[in-house]
Amino acid sequence: MQLTQSSVGRKIIMAVTGIVLVAFVCVHLLGNTSIFVGADAINAYAQKLHSLGPLVWVFRLVMLAAFVIHIFFGIQLTIENKAATPEANVQVKRQKTGFAAETMVISGLVLLAFVIYHLLHFTVRVTNPEIYVPMGDQGMVDVYYMVVMGFQAVLPVAVYVVAMGFLFLHVSHGFQSFFQTLGLSNDKSLPITMNISKLIAVVLLLGYISIPVLIVAGLVKI
Ligand code: HEM
Repeated sequence: MQLTQSSVGRKIIMAVTGIVLVAFVCVHLLGNTSIFVGADAINAYAQKLHSLGPLVWVFRLVMLAAFVIHIFFGIQLTIENKAATPEANVQVKRQKTGFAAETMVISGLVLLAFVIYHLLHFTVRVTNPEIYVPMGDQGMVDVYYMVVMGFQAVLPVAVYVVAMGFLFLHVSHGFQSFFQTLGLSNDKSLPITMNISKLIAVVLLLGYISIPVLIVAGLVKI
């Protein structure tokens, strides 16, 4: 299919915003694993972030913009691809590689739903009033208590585990797609970027699910 200049531009913006989002989930995972060190470690980490004041809001706005733009162009390009001629669709399909690639829109929409739930759970703090215990004077809560108590029931644990399965799918295709879109991939480097993609996706999957699973299993407790 002949890509128009504007769709190339939008694909590049999707690739760049996508890599920003992958960087966020990697750093977020690193921060969250401090829960395994103990209550003081994760609360000190959260305290440090909150003490950055206005910088936190700048960061949040940049992340929100990246997230919204990524979703908007993703949906727009998918609709355009679907509306293209059957001949064009054959070629688009040929560029794609397997289940993760074919389900990018579905995994992306599931992740959008997950992020909304997750923000209500741990950031806006409305889903489980009993787990939010105020701490300090910056409107903070005891993050260790919140996370451990937040994963005592099987349902939220199942929601997180399933959502992380979709994160795995999305990143395992999306990360290597970044290199292809920017023209940084050739026949020789493609298998390497595909393997790096899968490795990052597996680390994210195992790292993230380890938190709710070890908590519900009683290995991380109050
Ligand atoms: C087991 C998995 C996860 C745990 C335990 C977890 C934990 C947390 C906690 C405790 C906060 C609130 C931090 C605070 O206000 O001090 C938070 C915020 C957030 N999380 Fe997660 N998270 C997980 C997975 C994810 C994933 C996979 C994503 C993205 C796809 C994500 C995106 C966010 C975002 C966007 C925020 C808001 C950051 C902000 O307040 O600026 N989280 N998470």
